[in-house]
Amino acid sequence: MIFILTGAGISRESGIATFRGAGGLWGKVRVEDVATPEGFARDPERAHAFYNALRRRLVAGAFAPNAAHQALARLESGAGEPVFLVTQNIDDLHERAGSASVLHMHGELRKARCRNCRGTMLWDEDLSRASRCPLCGAAGSLRPHVVWFGEMPLRLGEIEAALRSCRQFVAIGTSGTVYPAAGFAAAARERGAGALELNLEPSANAAVFDRGIYGRASETVPRWVEETLKNRQSRFPAGGILPPD
Ligand code: APR
Repeated sequence: MIFILTGAGISRESGIATFRGAGGLWGKVRVEDVATPEGFARDPERAHAFYNALRRRLVAGAFAPNAAHQALARLESGAGEPVFLVTQNIDDLHERAGSASVLHMHGELRKARCRNCRGTMLWDEDLSRASRCPLCGAAGSLRPHVVWFGEMPLRLGEIEAALRSCRQFVAIGTSGTVYPAAGFAAAARERGAGALELNLEPSANAAVFDRGIYGRASETVPRWVEETLKNRQSRFPAGGILPPD
């Protein structure tokens, strides 16, 4: 199984700003105000405005999947082994590129969550304190279905199980600065998996990887996927499913 972790860098060429580095979102708004439960409690309308602005553009189709997202969808269908795709991103570009199985460990911008009934639902409109939960009817109880700092990422049990059984771990477009995602490469390597980083430049945890390919994701990811599919072809010319690792 190939475990793939993506970060904001894979969506950068689709027009979505990264969080850190040049033009990063955290240089424009304070993390404390829009990406913590305390910030949301202090001023929910400010946090809603931040996510509403991004959601409006995502829903309006302002961002399209790029060649990197598309290459990962090809890998999922052509690898001949399971591809476990985990993204830290809250956009839907992997799905729109054709990836069938995407685990959003930091949530999804086009979903809302009710603090009253704990339900989550698809949500493409603006959120505000006036928004009413369609499941329980509570007013003012909806928040973006996004994991904030200090909160537990989603589906960590599945992620940890996949890290224990993958043969190859690949990180794409992530700075390696936010845990637990930043610790996944080391966890996979401890279990004997190979670890590859595809990034614009070496990330904060580059030393953990046994190989790094640096450049823009829309160029490096398709090239790596074609190399991987060709290697599989040469290992198993007749096609078919790879034997269990
Ligand atoms: N191609 C490949 N990599 C790129 C590109 C590109 N075109 N542009 C930028 N990058 C790289 C940057 O070099 C950087 O290492 O993408 C990375 C983006 O890093 P961050 O902005 O920190 O994004 P990410 O690693 O996804 O952040 C993790 O932090 O704020 C939280 O919840 C938020 O999910 C996010 C988490």
